[in-house]
Amino acid sequence: MMVPTERALHEAIQVAPLDLPDDVKRQKIENLLAQMRLSGATARKIQKVFLSEMNKGIHQQDSSLQMENTYIPELPDGTEEGLFLALDLGGTNFRVLLLELVHGVIVREDVKKYHIDAHLRVGSGIPLFEYLAECVSDFVISEGLQDVELALGFTFSFPMIQHSLDVGILVTWTKSFNCPDVVGKDCVALLEEALERRGDTRVKVVAVLNDTTGTLLQGATQDPETAIGLILGTGSNACYLERADKVEHWEPERHGEREVIIDIEWGAFGDNGVLDFIKTDFDRQNDANSLLVSSFTFEKYISGKYLGEVVRCILVKLSKDGLLFTRETPESLLIPGNFLTDYISLIEQDTVDGGSTNAKEVLSKFNIIPDEDDLKIIQYVCEVASNRAALLVSICVATLLDHMKREEVTIAVDGSLYKHHPRLQSWMKQYISLLTPARKFKLMPTQDGSGKGAAIVAAIALRLKKRLESAK
Ligand code: GLC
Repeated sequence: MMVPTERALHEAIQVAPLDLPDDVKRQKIENLLAQMRLSGATARKIQKVFLSEMNKGIHQQDSSLQMENTYIPELPDGTEEGLFLALDLGGTNFRVLLLELVHGVIVREDVKKYHIDAHLRVGSGIPLFEYLAECVSDFVISEGLQDVELALGFTFSFPMIQHSLDVGILVTWTKSFNCPDVVGKDCVALLEEALERRGDTRVKVVAVLNDTTGTLLQGATQDPETAIGLILGTGSNACYLERADKVEHWEPERHGEREVIIDIEWGAFGDNGVLDFIKTDFDRQNDANSLLVSSFTFEKYISGKYLGEVVRCILVKLSKDGLLFTRETPESLLIPGNFLTDYISLIEQDTVDGGSTNAKEVLSKFNIIPDEDDLKIIQYVCEVASNRAALLVSICVATLLDHMKREEVTIAVDGSLYKHHPRLQSWMKQYISLLTPARKFKLMPTQDGSGKGAAIVAAIALRLKKRLESAK
């Protein structure tokens, strides 16, 4: 017999049944989508696997989780001061920021966005880094700061092996970047070399970080209990505060650090096959249609870059099986990448509101005029895919909370999917509570950690350096 908490978990993660007049059709659709629905027992199994992968990663054993040391051993304490540059690279926009900190508070923020063309995101990395340096110098010159020595925090939101706070070796590209010649190279050195070749500014990279790290730090300026940074956007990942004595990969000399931020890189969870038991036909298609096949398995189940594609694969299958749309599958729906994750958020909003305006508008982009059944089916598909994503993220967060064993944890969260999806936040709150009832936690929306956090890290890096020098 199922214990009551397990039953509550199992029941909470079930989505509302599909309500169609034709029972046979409904049954067929539900059967097809059954592979996307996880039971409470499966959720528990994923939890165990995630914990085991985390432990292996932290102990430097084979694992799909990198558990990378970021070498950030402390949170902002209100003494951060000065003018800093920040770079944010991870999505299609590249941002350069100038931030001024006074007593740990940002008092000035100038930001400029630069678009990164598709041809720079794939192919050789040399033009990409030349372009990044060009944007930095354009920004610095427009601020009139070309003769000022500026410390820069570089948010490079890709998996890195860090040898120190200012060395980040790219492990693999993710999301929409793929410049193979950068893999195995230090992104800081590449940027500094490109800046030196230009020679028109005096910028020095003092720290490299991940967007989750920036989010944790930015969150910590708002709530001192912040100990996890979570991104649910184009990609997905989290970092957390770990006890320093547990961390085996530590290259520079230690200086009595008590804690350190660990970048989990959970997007790669399952790349070694440990999550194959939840992989569906739709996930296999989604992977096959992606830029980097067979990598970042978990990210492909949950993040904004991929969720729309999972839904598209399901809709195409239903349409081809004669269960959706009376006409042939529309050409434009057959094109990978054409169903955006933002469409899911819009359709989910209809479900919340009890209407179908957004769904009709989304479908009109594909020249589809849906009937009543089509609308219900599409809403159901969007709900099933988003709900699975919410559950999977919640499983990892709950496991992390159990692993951290803190009294109370605030989770700083950022990312477009988290912000735009109308139900993710409440599902996550409910699922995390059910998965780990004894833990106290708060999900705290956090703005622009990847920009502001970079300036905070740069300030912390300078503080650490000064402290070391004065101890000599
Ligand atoms: C990808 C990157 C990771 C980043 C995440 C969110 O998973 O590998 O470093 O944190 O996207 O942007």
